[in-house]
Amino acid sequence: MPQLKVLIPAEKIQTRIDEIGAQIARDYPGGPVYMVAILKGACIFLADLARATPVPVRIEFIGISSYGRGKSSSGEVRLTKDLDVSLEGHDVIVVEDIVDSGITLSYLVQVFRQRKPKSLRIATLLDKPERRQRPVQVDYVGFQIPDEFVVGYGLDYAEDYRNLKDVCVLEA
Ligand code: IMP
Ligand code: MG
Repeated sequence: MPQLKVLIPAEKIQTRIDEIGAQIARDYPGGPVYMVAILKGACIFLADLARATPVPVRIEFIGISSYGRGKSSSGEVRLTKDLDVSLEGHDVIVVEDIVDSGITLSYLVQVFRQRKPKSLRIATLLDKPERRQRPVQVDYVGFQIPDEFVVGYGLDYAEDYRNLKDVCVLEA
């Protein structure tokens, strides 16, 4: 049986998200801000982040597939669900659960730039900088973590564990 070890407890996640929410309020005094969550992992982070800022937020989702059921990226990125709205002229924050190799986000930033938003920033709950293969500029980072496979708070292993309140290391 795989073992779960708490890496970041729920209370710490909420405190950090409140800080990022306050930072977003300083960065976008007027709003609205389009928060685009990358399905499925980022939906829980987006739900909390959107409520942690007083700025008017509009919520959108985009689907990307790059991992399959394994623990490392296949290196192939595919758009599985596109946006329902145009982002042209809008302030956009892409909301991601974790930046690992950077392959997903560097692809997505390219896609989003073509859609001419007024501004484009990236928020990620977790960052594993050691694993980077493609450079990505991340504007809001919840926590930098070591190179370990984590689950919970939206993150999965083969679709399990997304509903854990804490971020946990999955030990084989
Ligand atoms: P990247 O393209 O390698 O940066 O991968 C980003 C995606 O890989 C994230 O959106 C996650 O879905 C997945 N991922 C990367 N590391 C982990 C992890 O430790 N646990 C669960 N999913 C992960
Ligand atoms: Mg993901």
